[in-house]
Amino acid sequence: MHDDALYREALATFDALFGEAQAAGEPDPTAMVLATATLDARPSARTVLLKAHDPRGFVFYTHLDGRKGRELQANPHAALLFHWPRVRQGVQVRIEGAVEIVSDAEADAYFAVRPRGSQLGAWASKQSETLESRETFERRLAQVTREFDGRDVPRPPRWTGLRVKPERIEFWYGADYRLHERDAYERDRAGTWTKRMLYP
Ligand SMILES: Cc1cc2nc3c(=O)[nH]c(=O)nc-3n(C[C@H](O)[C@H](O)[C@H](O)COP(=O)(O)O)c2cc1C
Repeated sequence: MHDDALYREALATFDALFGEAQAAGEPDPTAMVLATATLDARPSARTVLLKAHDPRGFVFYTHLDGRKGRELQANPHAALLFHWPRVRQGVQVRIEGAVEIVSDAEADAYFAVRPRGSQLGAWASKQSETLESRETFERRLAQVTREFDGRDVPRPPRWTGLRVKPERIEFWYGADYRLHERDAYERDRAGTWTKRMLYP
């Protein structure tokens, strides 16, 4: 399935556009909107950063106990959205698929290269829980800073990567007079990819 020619074409198109977004000076081409839904079908969205992508999928890192982490464990399906207004006449990429947790080894390797401040922040934050005051968070941060003084900060067990495994990838290209172009790549149940154009 990973070596399906159309899937490879879609990933190559993503890479080319991602490269163009970097070259065009997009403030952060890795920023993407992540949409999740609860089991009773209520959607929510927020921005996360793309930290890895390859034929296995698109990876971001987060706390499993935060809202998105809880929603994705209950309903492991997500949509990702990139918008690069500086590329060509504006490009949007939509990716949808099932979600899996990355291996501990993969998450450990990524956590290890994060700045120490971010590593400590991951321990101090109870993502998406009510925070009574900013001082409470700063106190927790000071506490973990003391706790790990003089040694490497290990990855918090509930902080990890989530991989969205594409089942659908759509590219939208802006054009004059609303003659936008849309190419949709979709995987069927048998794992075969198809490609079609869509009306704008
Ligand atoms: C540019 C930008 C990048 C962000 N990147 C991440 C990220 O990679 N991981 C993450 O957990 N939150 C990231 N956030 C914060 C999320 O948008 C969100 O506020 C937080 O993860 C809590 O979401 P939740 O309550 O739905 O779990 C980012 C926010 C912005 C504005």
